[in-house]
Amino acid sequence: MEKTFIMLKPDAVQRGLVGQILGRFEAKGCKLVGMKLMKVDKALAEQHYAEHKGKGFYEPTVAYITSSPVVAMVWEGKNVVVIARELMGATNPANANPGSIRGSFGMDISRNVIHGSDSVASAEREVALYFKPEELCDYCKAGEEWLS
Ligand code: TYD
Ligand code: MG
Repeated sequence: MEKTFIMLKPDAVQRGLVGQILGRFEAKGCKLVGMKLMKVDKALAEQHYAEHKGKGFYEPTVAYITSSPVVAMVWEGKNVVVIARELMGATNPANANPGSIRGSFGMDISRNVIHGSDSVASAEREVALYFKPEELCDYCKAGEEWLS
């Protein structure tokens, strides 16, 4: 089953938005298979954002993501990568649909509340960066049977 890596960034934790954001993934029907509150160190942040190295926002983004704890999660489901990106909304909260997470909770692109993998290949890379295989739970979620 498809998996995606989702991170509630330091601003989401600091502002007490964790429960509300988790609720949106649960209400949508995504299945939570991994989750931890953690501090991201500089080396991990640099790996995470390697594709953006050299861009103007790279250093500030690494500083932001390492500033305070984040909630790292893995969600599972059919087409979950695209579904999660839709739930999140556009990168810049100023342009994000007001019903989306970034549209609901953000004002500034440099404090945009949440990260989500942008493709299945990115998801595989990011899940492996943040989670050991044994930290992910394989289980049957109630109500899942009728989806398949
Ligand atoms: P990006 O991968 O383009 O966006 P997304 O998170 O939607 O996949 O950029 C990574 C993060 O870098 C983004 O979430 C916020 C930050 N960022 C800026 O601060 N300024 C910018 O102009 C861009 C493009 C991104
Ligand atoms: Mg991205």
